[in-house]
Amino acid sequence: MPALEHSDALVLFGATGDLAHKKTFDTIQALIKRGHLNSPVIGVAKSGMTREQLLDRAKEGITTYGRGVDKAAFDKFAATFQYVDGDYADIATFNKLRAALGDAKRPLHYLAIPPSVFGLVTKQLKAAGCVEGSRIVVEKPFGRDMQSAQELNRTLHAVYDERDIFRIDHYLGKEATQNILFTRFANAFMEPLWNRNHVKQIQITMAESFGVQGRGRFYESAGCIRDVIENHLMQVVGFLCMEPPYWPDMERVRDEQIKLFRSVRTLGPNDVVRGQFEDYLKEEGVAPNSQVETFAAVRLFIDNWRWQGVPIYLRAGKCMPMTATEVRVEFHRPPAVVFPNEQSLPHNYWRFLFSPRIEVGLNIQVKADGERMVGQDLELMAVDQSPDEMTPYERLIGDALRGDQTLFARQDVVEEAWRIVDPILGNAVPVHRYKQGTWGPDAANEILLPEGGWHAPQVDGKG
Ligand code: BG6
Repeated sequence: MPALEHSDALVLFGATGDLAHKKTFDTIQALIKRGHLNSPVIGVAKSGMTREQLLDRAKEGITTYGRGVDKAAFDKFAATFQYVDGDYADIATFNKLRAALGDAKRPLHYLAIPPSVFGLVTKQLKAAGCVEGSRIVVEKPFGRDMQSAQELNRTLHAVYDERDIFRIDHYLGKEATQNILFTRFANAFMEPLWNRNHVKQIQITMAESFGVQGRGRFYESAGCIRDVIENHLMQVVGFLCMEPPYWPDMERVRDEQIKLFRSVRTLGPNDVVRGQFEDYLKEEGVAPNSQVETFAAVRLFIDNWRWQGVPIYLRAGKCMPMTATEVRVEFHRPPAVVFPNEQSLPHNYWRFLFSPRIEVGLNIQVKADGERMVGQDLELMAVDQSPDEMTPYERLIGDALRGDQTLFARQDVVEEAWRIVDPILGNAVPVHRYKQGTWGPDAANEILLPEGGWHAPQVDGKG
């Protein structure tokens, strides 16, 4: 692969918005601190703020939502930070940006703005001569179904080549996601077991104990399937189930991803249960009769040689009993011939906990102390560490600055993920109410119960 050129400016559209306030400035400060960002940063927005006011707001955001101000890194950022204030519809805004870019040849344009203005902004960038040599980062949602994703991709492709488009799905930037792929392919004993002959089922739970946190309006347009299942959890399925990729070549990693997604069966109404927590309707911005789901459980199948017939259960929800994300790969039981009287030999499993800690554990059976040949459950802990020190955003924006697309969603992968969920979007199945602090509606246990039941993530040794 040819060496990638580092970006020499970072342009932040939506610099006065919520994402920038809560996440992006904190990320920029961390990148500077780590020495991964030495180029000037230019903010663009329409707010009427001055550069100094925006810097104060950035500081406040880093203090309140981020990791606190690091004086040296922040001062370095502030010394070259420029702010362009203006309307995206006005070409003068982009002419000012062009001037602010000076000699920069490879700017990275980060669109922390709604997808509805991607078309306008990219067109204006082109008209003002800011596109040549540049790259573009876009945030999810990448459309709201297959058709709109295709339209969005056409909009971006009117100005940018795919190799210069970086679609952020922060789950790909997580240490725990990458660890799945590493554990699978860096251990000789893993791959022989990683298939339908040995794996009985897979469960992925993404539970959040909080609600929609004031984002009712956004949630109304999304719902749980669009918000986290179609993207975050599907990306995890990708790393969990793909064939061996060749890591140094980013396209070969993404080729394996798309190959896998193409084998995932399109979901139908029998594969999903939707839930809504009881007080959702009281949230600001939520329609009084909203049918939007805040919980979803899904069962999917991969029709390929390796995975045929292995059910993969995904569930995600707000107002659950805990905040934790876990992947559990469960194996078939050993034949009951050596210890035929041992009724309770459970299924061994691998467990990948994403949050609140990062853990990789392997369940094994050993003989319980004593005269009888009876077993005892043990877990071998392969990884046990605090959450990522480098946040997924830091990792991903750092990669985008270097031009490395390995951990970004490619167009075909995004469209294929929509193809999988398209028939279950909207009101394809009824939404069931559930009490806050529970594991979703009873229907998840009645209609879509995995054999042996749903497993709650094991947090602090309890599951
Ligand atoms: C976001 C969703 O993409 O991911 C949120 O919009 C969700 O609704 C969040 O809470 C979860 O991310 P993480 O990294 O905290 O698991």
